[in-house]
Amino acid sequence: MIQFAPMNNQHFLDTAVTIAHQTGALLREALGSAKEIEHKSSKIDLVTQFDLEAEEMITRSLQQAFPTHSLMAEEGGNTTNHNSDYIWHVDPIDGTNNFAHGIPFFAISMALYQANLPVVGLVYEPMRDECFTAVAGEGTFLIHNNRKTALRVSQSQELVDSILATGFPYDRHSSDLDNMEQLRAFLKQAQGIRRMGSAALDLAYVAAGRLDGYWELKLNSWDVAAGVLLVQEAGGRVTMMDGQLFALTPKVSLVASNGRIHQAMLDTLSS
Ligand code: IPD
Ligand code: CA
Ligand code: CA
Repeated sequence: MIQFAPMNNQHFLDTAVTIAHQTGALLREALGSAKEIEHKSSKIDLVTQFDLEAEEMITRSLQQAFPTHSLMAEEGGNTTNHNSDYIWHVDPIDGTNNFAHGIPFFAISMALYQANLPVVGLVYEPMRDECFTAVAGEGTFLIHNNRKTALRVSQSQELVDSILATGFPYDRHSSDLDNMEQLRAFLKQAQGIRRMGSAALDLAYVAAGRLDGYWELKLNSWDVAAGVLLVQEAGGRVTMMDGQLFALTPKVSLVASNGRIHQAMLDTLSS
């Protein structure tokens, strides 16, 4: 008798982990050799041939594994199935500017949402072989060297004890909504600020307790869809920048934290 693998959330995650590891191997090998670099929404919004190659690899594998699911991927690899309420949000390289410059800090981000709620999230950092994963209701884990470790957010209570991360929108050369005021306000209060260049990893690092908080404006769904679940499942909090309940909307501005410093971050952003 033929045995079919059960289609549960863990199976969705395991499949995504396998795909991320395969695609990560390609990107590890490719780092430093990106030659075909083009511009998208602005002169500082880049895409390399490896973004396209990685996205093709991920979307093809997801479609093979889950032919009824919809897909929304950054470089345009989209599929819509109106009869399914499952949708994958895929960023083949989050941190493309780092990747294009040979800086070894970028990630693959994959998330599965069902009826607008996250069920599976994965952020894979190929250079350190760190795979951050979460299934709704089951916690956040780091898979590294074939070992799986549960992750929790940090304990810091105040901004002065907190390392925060942020990023700057690609339209910042032409838009006044460029995060500079917010940056200044946090610089005056936090222990430190980092701009590492990958929203997905910023969120994964909040989940891992390496960062205490993160905020950013005007992000796309594929940047944050996985990371928000990682933070929530690790005991942290994610809201819109005005404190409203988080929702995966276009050009989303959000705050993610260990929960303890969340109100202080919202107060700073609204001051
Ligand atoms: C970008 C990175 C960056 C963030 C940008 C994102 P990309 O994604 O996550 O950290 O500041 O807003 O668009 O273009 O490297 O996939
Ligand atoms: Ca991205
Ligand atoms: Ca990208």
